[in-house]
Amino acid sequence: MLSQKQLFLLNTAQTSNSPRFLEIERAEGNYLYDVDGNKYLDLVSGFAVSNIGHRHPVVLEAIKNQLDRYLHVTVYGEYVQSPQVNFAHLLARILPENLSSVYFTNSGAEATEGALKLAKRYTGRTEILSFHHSYHGSTHGALSVMGNEYYKQAYRPLLPDVRFLDLNDEEQLEWITEKTAAVILESIQGEAGIRVPDKNYFKKLRTKCDETGTLLILDEIQTGFGRTGKLFCFEHYDLVPDILLIAKGMGGGMPIGAFISSKKIMDSLKENPILGHITTFGGHPVSCAAGLASLKLILEKKLFENVPEKETLFRTHLVHPKIKEIRGIGLMLSLQLDSFEHVEKISSLCAKEGLIIDWFLHCETAMRIAPPLTISNKEIILACNIIKKAIDEAYKSDNN
Ligand SMILES: Cc1ncc(COP(=O)(O)O)c(C=O)c1O
Repeated sequence: MLSQKQLFLLNTAQTSNSPRFLEIERAEGNYLYDVDGNKYLDLVSGFAVSNIGHRHPVVLEAIKNQLDRYLHVTVYGEYVQSPQVNFAHLLARILPENLSSVYFTNSGAEATEGALKLAKRYTGRTEILSFHHSYHGSTHGALSVMGNEYYKQAYRPLLPDVRFLDLNDEEQLEWITEKTAAVILESIQGEAGIRVPDKNYFKKLRTKCDETGTLLILDEIQTGFGRTGKLFCFEHYDLVPDILLIAKGMGGGMPIGAFISSKKIMDSLKENPILGHITTFGGHPVSCAAGLASLKLILEKKLFENVPEKETLFRTHLVHPKIKEIRGIGLMLSLQLDSFEHVEKISSLCAKEGLIIDWFLHCETAMRIAPPLTISNKEIILACNIIKKAIDEAYKSDNN
């Protein structure tokens, strides 16, 4: 009989020749457990998903309650389903006034697709400006606004009328004109290896969008739900987007995303033609119930409040001559090293010591640190010691 690992390689599609290959038995809190009885402290959170840790009891309870009521009942936006209604209502209550209309999707990429369509419909324009090194998902529209040609070249032709700006280049803001439907930007560029926009630049970008009637789409798919020490990262910049994208940490471990805008903008999906965006499973009731429970927990426990302290602890304990720089805000950090070989070696050494870390799509020389917000101070210090020891070993083996 074939093992699970053999079947994985046989029938489960992979998109690289070097999958992580960890055979997961279960996950709980800040830890993953494999079938061989090993326990791993999770510094990746399933790529910024498990903000409240794995299998949080309030999420499990909400899921179980919803399982007893109904699963899928119809396509999105037709029946009144209380998990959707209540989740949307809470999001609208905590977000700025203009972000009051929530369109639930299946994923982050679908939220990007919906937002790009919405911006084109509302403005009647076609040009989209995005940024070099950006990542907004892997479907065709999202790929069109991805700022890395390497991943796009094989899939052209993509969306026309897309141009790319350099982050923090104020002169290029002149490219935003009355022809521009939208500028799409991550509040912190994640897959670029964590690049934080300047506050001043962000304000000028907002002003230029206002002057030209261009919609500002902020992608908070990685930065959202407390990861940077605020519920949403745009609060650091003191500005508000026209369309907000959320997913990942939104569902407490269940798949869901959303694009959120004003009622006025969102209403443009209703006419000429009607059904401007259609999704069967978007806003699945079980995912909405889980997401609502997770958001209530984040708000009640103020899980984002201790995030700056935890960032400081990482920065204090991750001092090592081979770490060139630590970038990021809160628990969305990257350690800049010198080569992908070292990053790879260090992450496998860390895994052997029971610590999961990873790297980034557009920056292979940096390591990703994005633990659950529930990580304790003791666990942070333990993780830092494992990383430093792995760095020592990785560079020592260079000389052997
Ligand atoms: C900033 C950002 N936007 C969009 C996405 C796409 O989300 P999904 O993988 O749910 O489609 C991601 C995923 O990594 C992301 O990091």
